[in-house]
Amino acid sequence: MCGIVGVLGNHEAAPLLVEALKRLEYRGYDSAGIATLNHGTLDRRRAVGKLVNLSDLLVHEPLAGKAGIGHTRWATHGAPNTTNAHPHRAGGVAVVHNGIIENYRDLRAELSAKGVEFATETDTETVVLLVEQAMQAGMNAVQAVDATLARLEGAFALVFLFEGQDDLLIAARKGSPLAIGHGDGEMFVGSDAIALSPLTDRITYLEEGDRAVVTRTTLDIVDANGTRANREVRQVHVDSARVDKGGYKHFMMKEIMQQPTVIGECVNAYLSEDGRDVVLPGAGVDFTRVERMTMVACGTAFYACLTAKYWFEQLARLPVEVDIASEFRYREPPVSPGTAALFVSQSGETADTLAALRYSTGKADRILSVVNVAESSIARESDLALPIHAGVEIGVASTKAFTCQLTVLLLMALKAAHARGHLSDDALADHLSALRGLPGHLNHALDLARDVDAAARKISEARDVLFLGRGAMYPLALEGALKLKEISYIHAEGYASGELKHGPIALIERDVPVIVMAPHDGLFDKTVSNMQEVIARGAQVVLMTDAAGAKRAGEDCMTLLTLPEVPALLAPILYAIPAQLLAYYAAVAKGTDVDQPRNLAKSVTVE
Ligand code: G6P
Repeated sequence: MCGIVGVLGNHEAAPLLVEALKRLEYRGYDSAGIATLNHGTLDRRRAVGKLVNLSDLLVHEPLAGKAGIGHTRWATHGAPNTTNAHPHRAGGVAVVHNGIIENYRDLRAELSAKGVEFATETDTETVVLLVEQAMQAGMNAVQAVDATLARLEGAFALVFLFEGQDDLLIAARKGSPLAIGHGDGEMFVGSDAIALSPLTDRITYLEEGDRAVVTRTTLDIVDANGTRANREVRQVHVDSARVDKGGYKHFMMKEIMQQPTVIGECVNAYLSEDGRDVVLPGAGVDFTRVERMTMVACGTAFYACLTAKYWFEQLARLPVEVDIASEFRYREPPVSPGTAALFVSQSGETADTLAALRYSTGKADRILSVVNVAESSIARESDLALPIHAGVEIGVASTKAFTCQLTVLLLMALKAAHARGHLSDDALADHLSALRGLPGHLNHALDLARDVDAAARKISEARDVLFLGRGAMYPLALEGALKLKEISYIHAEGYASGELKHGPIALIERDVPVIVMAPHDGLFDKTVSNMQEVIARGAQVVLMTDAAGAKRAGEDCMTLLTLPEVPALLAPILYAIPAQLLAYYAAVAKGTDVDQPRNLAKSVTVE
């Protein structure tokens, strides 16, 4: 995790660094820091906690200079305190780092044996010490960095700044993304193009193993073999509205409310002109040649995949295996020909998902991805990347990205079902017409906000909460529980309703809240039986259902949330709304930091 940035500019660097870090705070907010060169002299400021603390510090203790580097931290090695905050410095060298140096203990022991003293508990400090030692031994900056990089194991994006060298940054990438921005007689470095968006839209992405020497007018890149590499300069379009809450108190609420709009746009982006077919980008996917699918993701995106399994198997009769990326990548699963491997990721940079993609490359017939960030590593390394059109998502707890992921996965499943002969032209057109109507239903679901708020206030006092669902509502129960624990810190678990009697029912005692997600479909009566079993044991039930469901089973519940009636396929997308609102209002009632919950980061770029 962590966000890094570098500036070789013609104006004061500190405000530009802070502005760029603001756009990278989604990567971590344990501490922030910058270092600049003022007429060749290196100096730094660091502050624990959010970026605002660094901004405040800079008011009292400004840093001058037109060259600098900056960092926002998600702590891996060493407590989140000022000492461990980046940039790290040794003599005249400063560095910012995103990633983990896995062999840092060995390197540290080696340096200690030479009498080198450490100021921090971080893995990063070994890197800057190695560079400094190499320079002391007579190497120039580039040679010293190259010699150091050759010794590092693990994942990293690094940017170095050198005292006395006002026109030099050295950047390197292995495992963690890094983008170089081209200005007019200025150059920038950032963890992503979004960080650099106010500065430039001309971006060069470093590839795996690249090392770049950056000056204000030149960019020299060598690849992992030390060979000079020509990397394309791309014009990148980034949504620059990312720091605007649009009048809402939290980004999360803004993003929840955006869902009808972005889902409408997402559906339209995939429909043929007559609205009767799904058009996938590029060469699309020939689903008649796909024998099975493997879907891999982390967190909320994993739950989107679990939902999609129901759709692909039921509609397209296509067997689907779903896996958590961190398990998949080390299990060495056989990926045989005939497999389409699909990776779902909002950021497109999640380290485990990217590693799982790389494991599958060359084994699966096709590498597909469903991503929000079109220029991300996962998108660029896929044969076909399907955008979800959610727009920039800032709230650490994913909301609109989840429902847009579901929307794209459902469109794909419908396309597959049609291509494989399991859905007629008319049936496909009917499903697509229903999907076009979904934004209207989502708006009605959002109208329930006040009722959800009332239920959430009661739930905010609970210690444990259970979420229950059956069929495609089961993954949604998992997602509802994840949302609640992420932002309200209430312990929550999602279960398949049918599993209740195999253990979780032991947790039910008087007043334990149980959230039941049950549209009035073919599985409704089964789920309601499970609901009655927990009510009989004193649970307080919040039932999310539709009018028909409410009529049949609403009476015994603490709260009844009546959603619009929609075709069963659309229910997981619709029912995500009250689940998100419930987590949001519970967090607000508890007074937690909704957009930046403790210990979490939006983009998990380390294992
Ligand atoms: C983190 C985020 C989650 C997200 C997960 C996967 O845990 O907090 O919201 O679902 O990473 O991220 P990705 O960018 O790959 O979807």
